[in-house]
Amino acid sequence: MTAVGIDAIEIHTGKLALDLAETFAPEMGADPAKYTKGLGIYSSSLPDVHEDIVTMGANAAHRLMERNGLELDDIGRIDVATESAFDNSKPVSTYIAGCLEGVFEGDLHHANKGERKFACISGTQSIDDAYNWIQAGRNRGRAALVIATDTALYARDDPGEATQGAGAVAMLIDENPSVVELSKQQGYGSADETDFLKPNQQFPSVDGKRSVQVYLARMREAVEDYESIGGDLRPEDFRYVPFHTPFPGMVRKAAMLGYRHMIRDTEIEDALAPEIGRQPRQEAFDDEEAFRDAVREYMDALKGTDRYLAWHDRTIEPTLDIARHVGNWYTGSVHVARASALKRAAAEGEDVTGDRLLVGSYGSGAQAEIHVETIQNGWREEVSAFDIDTQLESRYDLDFAEYERIHDVHNHAKEVDVEELTTPSEEFVFEGRGRMNERKYRYVD
Ligand code: HMG
Repeated sequence: MTAVGIDAIEIHTGKLALDLAETFAPEMGADPAKYTKGLGIYSSSLPDVHEDIVTMGANAAHRLMERNGLELDDIGRIDVATESAFDNSKPVSTYIAGCLEGVFEGDLHHANKGERKFACISGTQSIDDAYNWIQAGRNRGRAALVIATDTALYARDDPGEATQGAGAVAMLIDENPSVVELSKQQGYGSADETDFLKPNQQFPSVDGKRSVQVYLARMREAVEDYESIGGDLRPEDFRYVPFHTPFPGMVRKAAMLGYRHMIRDTEIEDALAPEIGRQPRQEAFDDEEAFRDAVREYMDALKGTDRYLAWHDRTIEPTLDIARHVGNWYTGSVHVARASALKRAAAEGEDVTGDRLLVGSYGSGAQAEIHVETIQNGWREEVSAFDIDTQLESRYDLDFAEYERIHDVHNHAKEVDVEELTTPSEEFVFEGRGRMNERKYRYVD
C-alpha cells in the first residue's frame, strides 16, 4: 500500500489579537485566571477588516506552495473545510483557486474542488478524502491541497466569546509524504447531538457545558472503535497526542480520560496502585452514582501523580503552545495542535522521525475520530520554515473598543464601515462585493 500523508503544512493567523487577561477580563468583570488558567488561553486571533476565510486560506496555501516550489499543475484537488462559509452553493475552494490563479502561472481548471462541512472535524475529513483519492489511484501523480479556515466568532456575551479565534491551516496531502504518514485504521464515535450548531445563522447556538461532555463521550467511543481494529493504545506508544483544541482546558480533560483508559490493566496502573489505588471497575458497583464518584476520586488522585504529570508535560503540553495564543480555529484546530508539537520538537532539537502521533479530531453535532500518524524524515525541514512566531508577534493588539468594532465588522447582520487596523502587504485581501453579491479579492504586493 502506498504511503500517504501530510507533505507540507502552513499556518496563517488572523492579524489582530485580543488579550484575554488584559483587555477582555476587566470588561467581563472576570478574574483573568479564568481565561489563562481555567480555559488556558492568553489571546485570540481575530480577522482584520480585509481578512476572511478566503484570504486566510489563500494566504496559507500561497506560502505553502511558494515555499515548496509547487506549481498549479501539481495540485489535482482543493478541499476547503470550514464552518464559516458565506455561500450555500459556491464553495470557498473556488474563491481560493481564483486567488492562487492570480499569482501563479497557469490554472486549476482540472483540479477537483469542494467544501466539507461537519463542524471542526471536517478538516480531518478533508484529509481522509484526499487520502482515499490518492490510494484509489485517481490523482494522476498530483497532490491535494486541504485548507481548514475559519473565523470562529461567537455572539457578544456568549460564554464562547472567550474561545474565539481566526486562522487557516493549509496542508499538502501526497504520496511518500515528508511530514507524517497516516494510518489506514481509524476509529469513530458519532451521534446525533444538539450541543453546538449554526442553523442558517452566523453565530453558533451553544450549550457549552454539554458540548464538553459530548466531546469527551464521542472521543471515548472513537478510541474504543480504533482499538477494536488497531489494538490497545498505550501511553508510551505515542510521542505526542494532538487533540482538537477549542481551548487547552478541554484538552486537559480529554488527556486525563485518555490516560486513565490507556493505563488500565497495565504495569502503569499496577505501579500507581500503592499511591492512588486501582481504577474503579463498573462491575464492582451496584449503583451508577457510586461508581462515578469513585472514578472522579481516582481521576483527582491520578492527575496529581508525578507519572501522569510527566506524561502530560511531554505528550500533551507541546500540542497547546500555539492554541494558547490564538484560541479556537475550529476546522484548523487539531492541525494547529500537530504543528505545534512538531515545532516544539524542532525547537528542542529532538529527533522524532519514526515516532508516532495519536490524533484525536472532533466536531460538534457530533463526531470524534482517532487515527495514528508516523512522523517522516522531512518533518524538521518543513516545521523549521514555519513563520507563525513572527506572525503572532506582528499582530495588532486590540483595545476593547476596537474589538467591539471588529466584531461588528464581521457580523453579517451589521453594516459597519471601519478602517483596517493593519497595512496589508504581500497578501490576499477582501475588497468588497460584486454585482451578484460575490466576494472579491486581490493580491497586495
Ligand atoms: P464558562 O461557563 O464561562 O466557564 O464557559 P467556566 O465557569 O466553566 O470556567 C471555565 C474553566 O475555568 C473551569 O475549569 C473553571 O473551574 C475555571 P474546569 O472546572 O472546567 O476545569 N476557572 C478558573 N480557573 C482558575 N482561576 C479562576 C477561574 N475561574 C474559572 N479564577 C465554556 C466555558 C467552555 C462552556 C465556554 O467557553 C463555551 O461555551 N465555549 C464554546 C463551546 C466549546 O468550546 N466547547 C468545547 C467542546 S465542543 C468543541 O470542541 C467543538 C467546537 O470547537 C465547535 C465545532 O466542533 O465546530 C466548539
